[in-house]
Amino acid sequence: MIELKTPGEIDAIDAAGSVVARILAAVRERAAPGVRPSELDALASAMIAEAGAVSSFRGYHPRWAPGPYPGVLCVSVNDAVVHGIPSRTKLREGDLLSVDFAVHLDGWCADAAFSVVVGDGDPGDEKLIATTEAALDAGIAAAQPGAQMGDVGHAIGQVARGAGYGMLADHGGHGVGRSMHEEPHVPNEAKPRRGLKLRPGLVIAIEPMLHAGGKDAYRHDRDGWTIRTADGSRAAHAEHTIAITENGPRILTLP
Ligand code: MF3
Ligand code: CO
Repeated sequence: MIELKTPGEIDAIDAAGSVVARILAAVRERAAPGVRPSELDALASAMIAEAGAVSSFRGYHPRWAPGPYPGVLCVSVNDAVVHGIPSRTKLREGDLLSVDFAVHLDGWCADAAFSVVVGDGDPGDEKLIATTEAALDAGIAAAQPGAQMGDVGHAIGQVARGAGYGMLADHGGHGVGRSMHEEPHVPNEAKPRRGLKLRPGLVIAIEPMLHAGGKDAYRHDRDGWTIRTADGSRAAHAEHTIAITENGPRILTLP
């Protein structure tokens, strides 16, 4: 069932989103060669407590996972696309880092992600990240009241495929609200003018995941969580939680 949110509820998700954005900015600031992803996780964990929020990730246990999720961040490095568990392996110059993060504040969730190159990087990696961000922007711009979910997936897919990148076809965004994952599914590739009609009050996370290899294959790491590209190519991830409003899309995960 798809639950539309009231303006007051959207403001509550926006408050959670501000916390998410603030903490992600601090994590981005801290990420540097020699820093351990586990240290980024500890930073985020302390900031969650300070904000009076609750991690949406820690303890999360979807059916496909081997156990409850151990961190508050997902930190996916290089060929890891998403769901990387923050490790103690120090980041190195040129690593492509993707950080995904969600909190609950007063019972409402917001979910966001960014990618960045640690230190000096490869121009190809920078372009992959910029294209992923452009795909997210295109998806958000398509999320207009009266448009359809297929328009969102189409906009994302056009940017990604137009640049020759691969995507995890069966992964995408999702509704957000009291729970981190709600209906509907938000595709990263779709036919335009198909699917759910977008109405004011719909709150969704849009999250393109692109990788440099043109093939869409991926594999699960032995840890049961981390999703890696099958060809070892690098991946980037960008995500915002947005609300469809009468005036167009409103991004809720901004500082
Ligand atoms: N934000 C991620 C997503 O929408 C959720 C990660 S779940 C976790 O897929 F348990 F890995 F944290
Ligand atoms: Co998400």
